[in-house]
Amino acid sequence: MSAIGPPGALSPVRPVSATGVTGSSLEGAVDSPERSAFRAAILHFGPDDRLARIDDGLMVVMAGRIEALGDHASLASQYADVPIADYRGYTLAPGFVDTHIHYPQTDVIGSPADGLLPWLENYTFPHETRFSDHGYAKGVARFFLNELLRNGVTTAMTFCSSHSQSVDALFEVAAGQNLRLIAGKCLMDSNSPDGVRDATEQSLLDSEDLIKRWHGHGRLGYALTPRFAPSCSERQMRGAAELARRYPGTWVQSHVAENAEEIAWVSRLFPKARSYLGVYEEMGLLRPRSIYAHCIYLDAEDRAAMKTHGAAAAVCPTSNLFLGSGLFDFAAADAAGFAYGLASDVGGGTSFSPFKTMLAAYQVARLSGVTLSPEQLWYLHTLGAARALDLDGQVGNLAAGLEADAILIDDRATPLLARRIASATSLAEWLFALVVLGDDRAIRNYMISGRLG
Ligand code: GUN
Ligand code: ZN
Repeated sequence: MSAIGPPGALSPVRPVSATGVTGSSLEGAVDSPERSAFRAAILHFGPDDRLARIDDGLMVVMAGRIEALGDHASLASQYADVPIADYRGYTLAPGFVDTHIHYPQTDVIGSPADGLLPWLENYTFPHETRFSDHGYAKGVARFFLNELLRNGVTTAMTFCSSHSQSVDALFEVAAGQNLRLIAGKCLMDSNSPDGVRDATEQSLLDSEDLIKRWHGHGRLGYALTPRFAPSCSERQMRGAAELARRYPGTWVQSHVAENAEEIAWVSRLFPKARSYLGVYEEMGLLRPRSIYAHCIYLDAEDRAAMKTHGAAAAVCPTSNLFLGSGLFDFAAADAAGFAYGLASDVGGGTSFSPFKTMLAAYQVARLSGVTLSPEQLWYLHTLGAARALDLDGQVGNLAAGLEADAILIDDRATPLLARRIASATSLAEWLFALVVLGDDRAIRNYMISGRLG
């Protein structure tokens, strides 16, 4: 195992399927109901959280979990009876984790507006009205999950619309694919137009019904989802907090401190609150497993509260740039010590690809004088993101005992990427080339619970 893997030394051998037929089809992989094994370079975080690459690795999977992972040379004899799918030339890595996305906004990407509030009013809210139709929602859910997987995202925390049907549609499709996914019905009983506005008491009854039907169903989790303080009455937020207390394994997801006009609006709506985040704190919505998107304009007291309550931030750099919202302060977040992970925030965000999000995070950090290393960027979209969601016991890394959700990376997917990685002389250089030049073409395949897609 090498912490400084020599990318130039990657084996030139292209994959040979388990049946011995040389070719590029990864779909003919070992599909044993029992044990299966995959030979490839393996990128993973070691026990010290250091990113390392095993140049010729073996990952053994049993019943959807990783049973063993290490050097092919040292493990192969123990698993001599297990058929090995040979993907030398590719890199097996943890599937990416997206900490904040909106599945009903799949078709809202690329809608221009003068900032968050006009964007919500003119595009997002009108479009989300369509998700009262279960059939329509299911069609979008299928496309959305496929798009995540195609981009190497194997776990996401997503908003649905305010319609229970939209949650059912998404969870039905995700359950069929055995995905680890967190989602919830948007709560929005105030300052929201007809067609998306919900009714306070019914919204809470519906949320509880969805928790009972979906939370813990397979690998699915439920998130109480007060959209943002301006769209929620105090009663609705307190009700959501009460449900979160009654069902402590559930998550909470919302937005905070994203945009200057939004913040001014919150201070008019909640004049007694110390700050925007203070509204959620007062309502009982700051807790472990609560994830707040954006967190751009927090002050020192807010950041301390995030840490004290065990809340986490979803950092959405392509969205923050697209909507002109502002720049997440990485240095202040690290100083305060609260958890955060990267997120696409589609459709405010402009891409499903974690490569685009990592690159935007790098650029946003640079604008405030911080240089994020490629290892840090990768961490923030895998293990760090899983930690922010309290899912690091399940996903976010490749290690024995974890669920076998992974991706196969083709670092020669484009001529430019192939050319650039050929001159990389360290793991960091190789990784940075991927971050900057990679996109969906570099995701050769994905693996869910040990099964290749
Ligand atoms: N604040 C409230 N709703 C939204 C949303 O859908 N997207 C973003 N970026 N911010 C929000
Ligand atoms: Zn969002």
